[in-house]
Amino acid sequence: MATAFMRTCTVALIGSGAIACVMARSLLEQHPQVRLVGALDQNVARARQRMDARIPLTASLDELLGWGPELVVECAGHAALAEHGAAVLTRGVDLLVASVGALARPELESALRAAALTGGTHIRIPSGAIGGLDALASARVGGLDSVRYVGRKPVNAWRGTPAEKVIDLDTVTTATVIFEGSARDAALTYPQNANVTAATALAGIGFDATHVTLYADPAARGNEHQIDAEGRFGSFRFSVINVPLPENPKTSSLAAYSLLRCVLAPAETIQI
Ligand SMILES: NC(=O)c1ccc[n+]([C@@H]2O[C@H](COP(=O)([O-])OP(=O)(O)OC[C@H]3O[C@@H](n4cnc5c(N)ncnc54)[C@H](O)[C@@H]3O)[C@@H](O)[C@H]2O)c1
Repeated sequence: MATAFMRTCTVALIGSGAIACVMARSLLEQHPQVRLVGALDQNVARARQRMDARIPLTASLDELLGWGPELVVECAGHAALAEHGAAVLTRGVDLLVASVGALARPELESALRAAALTGGTHIRIPSGAIGGLDALASARVGGLDSVRYVGRKPVNAWRGTPAEKVIDLDTVTTATVIFEGSARDAALTYPQNANVTAATALAGIGFDATHVTLYADPAARGNEHQIDAEGRFGSFRFSVINVPLPENPKTSSLAAYSLLRCVLAPAETIQI
């Protein structure tokens, strides 16, 4: 039970997949100060099989917003953000975005920024599967010279992606580059695997100046992310090895925890 001393807030989810299920379980079982009012999914029948019976489900954004969330958490993919993001923001509700790579499309970024201005709302970008974005964003204030991101994931994480056309995933025995280029192209080419490149770009020197290398690596110890940045502040290296979620090898467990942290933060007395 939430106590009289706790701040409370209400949230709704878009999506009912791997991240949404971790969030819903955690909010229901451990965090009564955040009330989950419901979830939207394009396939309500399938969502019902995955999600706790206590969570109201809908395929209608109007209905979801009618349940009165103060914050909507998109964790459903680039298409879902394009479909619902602007409407959420225009209707006066802040939006926490998991599928940040979708912002690599300039027209969607502009539309969401305009909707947020119209609705007096904010687009919130979580650190997701990576970290170090606080340092990167601080460094940007003084001036950044270069930001490089390197991602390594086990071979199975690249199945069902354009990597299958770049290399033969069945015969890879050593770390093999499947992408090299800008954060913009990485995020658009690998919408489920490269959201972190977009978050890194937005925190640092932008989609086109951020250099990205992605590997399919049979020796990867998990989903590995590394940022190297240089600028007036000096230099830093951030790296993390993530355990993927069992329900979705493309998604790191830290991504789900990061979204949870963002949802829980407004109810915290000390904010970090
Ligand atoms: N920022 C990060 O670091 C990071 C890390 C991992 C994943 N992600 C993003 O989060 C998303 C969700 O991850 P996941 O592992 O939970 O994925 P998932 O594939 O397990 O679940 C996706 C869910 O979204 C639903 N969905 C798809 N299109 C929809 C639409 N148009 N409208 C409503 N619902 C829709 C699906 O039915 C499913 O329930 C990923 O697609 C990816 O874009 C971001």
